[in-house]
Amino acid sequence: MGLLESIPLVIISVLLSVTAIVDACSNGGCKLLEECSSTPDCAAGLLCGSCPIRFHGERCIRSTFTDQFKLLNNSLPFNKYAYLTTHNSFAIAGEPSHTGIPRLALPNQEDSITQQLNDGVRALMLDTYDFKDDIWLCHSFEGKCYDFTAFSPAIDTLKEVEAFLGANPSEIITLILEDYVESPNGLTKVFNASGLTKYWFPVSNMPQNGQDWPLVKDMVANNQRLIVFTSKRQKQESEGIAYQWNFMVENMYLQMGMMECIQEAVLTVGSQQHSMTKLSLWFW
Ligand SMILES: *[C@@H]1O[C@H](CO)[C@@H](O)[C@H](O)[C@H]1NC(C)=O
Ligand SMILES: *[C@@H]1O[C@H](CO)[C@@H](O)[C@H](O)[C@H]1NC(C)=O
Repeated sequence: MGLLESIPLVIISVLLSVTAIVDACSNGGCKLLEECSSTPDCAAGLLCGSCPIRFHGERCIRSTFTDQFKLLNNSLPFNKYAYLTTHNSFAIAGEPSHTGIPRLALPNQEDSITQQLNDGVRALMLDTYDFKDDIWLCHSFEGKCYDFTAFSPAIDTLKEVEAFLGANPSEIITLILEDYVESPNGLTKVFNASGLTKYWFPVSNMPQNGQDWPLVKDMVANNQRLIVFTSKRQKQESEGIAYQWNFMVENMYLQMGMMECIQEAVLTVGSQQHSMTKLSLWFW
């Protein structure tokens, strides 16, 4: 292309970049997913942050969530709501070693369990192992936990859940266990010790053949606000812990890692919307 022919293009591109600068938002004017340089650029309820799995650089993302039971009401069956779930919720960056051995397992989350719950997470995916004569949360391989893969004793996390349910009497939490525990009644013992048993939603109240779940308001009124699923089929019979795949389907998440961009996820009510950063669970 000759010099003369390229001049109009140069002018147009200069004009376009000037327009882009004029249009660039700031001072609370940036909307969801618009580029930003710091949080004050973003509108209320948003923060300036990154989420490499979705976009380059920094954009305004949600910093608050809307409680699904308040967005609508709590009169629908539990399976009509969608809520945020964290994968490997216990694999928290900065969690100190509890074994004295530096940990090699990679983290998936930035926030503590309590912070995740306060931020609107209502289902936690936890990997449970027999370890050190106790039950631990571990990010391991071949069903065995090691000093260098262990995150924390399960009791610590369960007590955080117990404290949240105590402080938030209208909320319901689901735990989805990738369960490697073989010790007899190992899970039952740790749930007993955590004080969570009083919130237990019994398997016998779960719909067996695709019917709706109980109404949220009834689950709250009955204080049956903890739903626990195990990946071990036989524990439904032996310990009364629901076998996950009797009750649940799961969509594929498209990319591993970086599941923690939770500020971005949208809570949807009664819809089947899903995004890469959120694992949606549908009960039937
Ligand atoms: C709750 O919301 C649903 C869906 O919008 C509506 O059909 C129902 O009447 C509402 N129930 C109450 C008690 O407000
Ligand atoms: C758990 O607690 C219940 C009620 O207190 C008790 O009956 C049961 O034996 C306990 N189970 C285990 C395995 O500790």
